[in-house]
Amino acid sequence: MATIKVRKFKNIPAEITVPGDKSISHRAVMFAGLANGRTVISGFLPSEDCICTVHAMEALGAEIEWLEEIEGIGPVKLAVTGHGTQLKAPTKVIDCGNSGTTTRLLAGILAGQPFTTVLAGDESLSRRPMRRIADPLGLMGAKVEGQGEKICAPLSITGGDLHAITYHLPVASAQVKSAVLLAGLFAPGKTSVVEPVATRNHTERLMSHFGVKWLRDGDTVSVYGGQTPRAEDISVPGDISSAAFWMVAVAAMPGGQITINNVGLNPTRTGIIDVLLKMGAQVTDSMTKNDGEPQGNITVKGGDLNATVIGGSVIPNVIDELPILAVAAALARGKTLIKDASELRVKETDRIAAVADNLRRMGVPVVEFDDGMEIEGGAQLKGAVIDSYGDHRIAMAFAIAGLFAEGTTTIENTDCISTSYPGFERDLNRFLLPGHEAAAIPVLDRMPRRMGIETLSAEDAAE
Ligand code: S3P
Repeated sequence: MATIKVRKFKNIPAEITVPGDKSISHRAVMFAGLANGRTVISGFLPSEDCICTVHAMEALGAEIEWLEEIEGIGPVKLAVTGHGTQLKAPTKVIDCGNSGTTTRLLAGILAGQPFTTVLAGDESLSRRPMRRIADPLGLMGAKVEGQGEKICAPLSITGGDLHAITYHLPVASAQVKSAVLLAGLFAPGKTSVVEPVATRNHTERLMSHFGVKWLRDGDTVSVYGGQTPRAEDISVPGDISSAAFWMVAVAAMPGGQITINNVGLNPTRTGIIDVLLKMGAQVTDSMTKNDGEPQGNITVKGGDLNATVIGGSVIPNVIDELPILAVAAALARGKTLIKDASELRVKETDRIAAVADNLRRMGVPVVEFDDGMEIEGGAQLKGAVIDSYGDHRIAMAFAIAGLFAEGTTTIENTDCISTSYPGFERDLNRFLLPGHEAAAIPVLDRMPRRMGIETLSAEDAAE
């Protein structure tokens, strides 16, 4: 089991480039696999989660060619050749690994296929609630069966003969919205989803990219059934959820400055910038591309942070950044309140419990609530042994906390980082002096065969 040992940081790189956006990478592969023709995806995130989606689409009949790889990160460019929306029945159970996005979005696609598929995953995925997709997909006419009251994985999905519905989301979830919209492609007529609070809109933007007609009217998103996506090459921007770790590291370091290049700046994902600004950080962004998925560079200058309240409609926008924002809160003056975030309890682990436990280990007073926590910031963090709970974002958030702590912070069980950020350890080491590296660079597994792919060094790739 891998560990990371971090001490106070000694160096801030001027620039950093983070790997591709996880949400967009999953969706690009799915839409390309449903299209008629070949789509080249560049900037793809070769994380374990997204590789599960690639393998799943391959098992369902799409052809995959790996085109380019970055050393120490994995394959970042691939071509997906789809044969339209009628997929091939897989011969085996589909392994979704740790990935809720693979499971829930794929369930939407499988709801439209006239065969039975079984989706399974690791222990964490098998604890996550799938009733939230089983209910609407069942209303549309699919049969979705799972384990227990929460309808957990393994899931058996038998699709075909769907009908359009209007579905009011009971939880603000982009994954559930996307599952219903994807199923809507297979239902004659107009399928609509009503959102209680706006969630990330990558599915909608990718539908436009792949020529699928959809519309938004207030809080309702609709799609018409019977459309086949049109193959169209796509470039994925860097993941702002990965950039968030370096944004917080530098925002809380007086005198520091960093620029993070080519990050996705979709307004449904940039809540982290607003929260850090509210906490008194200096953050600027400059858009370099504003069609499809907007992207640009983010510059952060460090200073003293102040406590804030994070709650209400910003929560879905920062849902994946709340662990690292909790670390920012521990480094800020005063008491920060995170509320309306009960969804954190059903992520890869219970992120409220995991953050509270680990912050306390570092000497930070935390009061836990059902839907969030209050964090008393401002005291010197103490090095501690941290449990990642097998959750990539907990591991990375506390590696950043370790950069500010007295003594050594040991994060145990860090293999999970490859779920979303291959190359994190290498980037973290850039914040430390040579000879004081925090982590060994992991050897990537679950990756496709490397034969015949062009391999770029990380430095060449960043240019
Ligand atoms: C995601 C949506 C979010 C997020 C997850 C990725 C997506 O989940 O936490 O990491 O790609 O749609 P919910 O929509 O379930 O909140």
